[in-house]
Amino acid sequence: MSAGRTAAPIGVFDSGVGGLSVLRELRRELPHEHFIYYADSGHCPYGGKPAIEIAARAFAITDELLAAGAKLIVVACNTATIAAVEQLRATYPLSFVGIEPAIKPAVRQTRSGVVGVLATGAALAGDKFLRLQAEHGDGVRVITQPCPGLVEFVERGELDSPALRALLRRYIEPLLRDGADTLVLGCTHYPFLRPAIAEIAGPAVTLLDTGAAVARQARRVLEREGLLAPEAQAGRVDWRSSGDVARVGPVIERLLAG
Ligand code: DGL
Repeated sequence: MSAGRTAAPIGVFDSGVGGLSVLRELRRELPHEHFIYYADSGHCPYGGKPAIEIAARAFAITDELLAAGAKLIVVACNTATIAAVEQLRATYPLSFVGIEPAIKPAVRQTRSGVVGVLATGAALAGDKFLRLQAEHGDGVRVITQPCPGLVEFVERGELDSPALRALLRRYIEPLLRDGADTLVLGCTHYPFLRPAIAEIAGPAVTLLDTGAAVARQARRVLEREGLLAPEAQAGRVDWRSSGDVARVGPVIERLLAG
């Protein structure tokens, strides 16, 4: 790629606003980059959809981000990574950084030997997830918990309410009863619920997500490809959404600001 490509944007996408938890880490790690964030809110949630439909959305969004000049694409969605990242890499002439639930670090650090994984149904059904679990779950019990309904709260910008807490308790309390001392936030929407989850799980339970690791990986890829933005460039974020912008726009702006 030519030197002019260093100033090109990084495309980041998710089924909705969840990937903004990854974008937060990307901005911290790569302050000079220009990011284009795509919230696929018109097709959210991905979690109950078949992999083939999720992959079709990932391809359509990639086409749009490429048309906008993206030099790298971050798939800021566990569900879309599991459904599509290998096909995307095989199809397009640029690099993709995906995100996977933090099972490896969770297995390494659990002391009780029980890890709970909160994620979408589609992510938990994905082959890749099951492979990860088999490779890294040795001697540790990894309990998966699909969490339908949580994403919708985050999409509405409802990050704490009695209804949200009731749903969280339904998903988390059985894991705690089974002895989990580590909970993996395996969906990029869930880091926005971290305060509520932490309060329910209590101080003895560690919560893990992979946003910061993804940001470090994006930096490594840009360095390797000679595509890091010039330091004189001021970082910025533009966003677009397939959803109702009047509804999702204020949530995006609020999460970007926080
Ligand atoms: N944020 C997405 C993830 O990381 C998926 C949410 C959804 O659309 O179900 O898995």
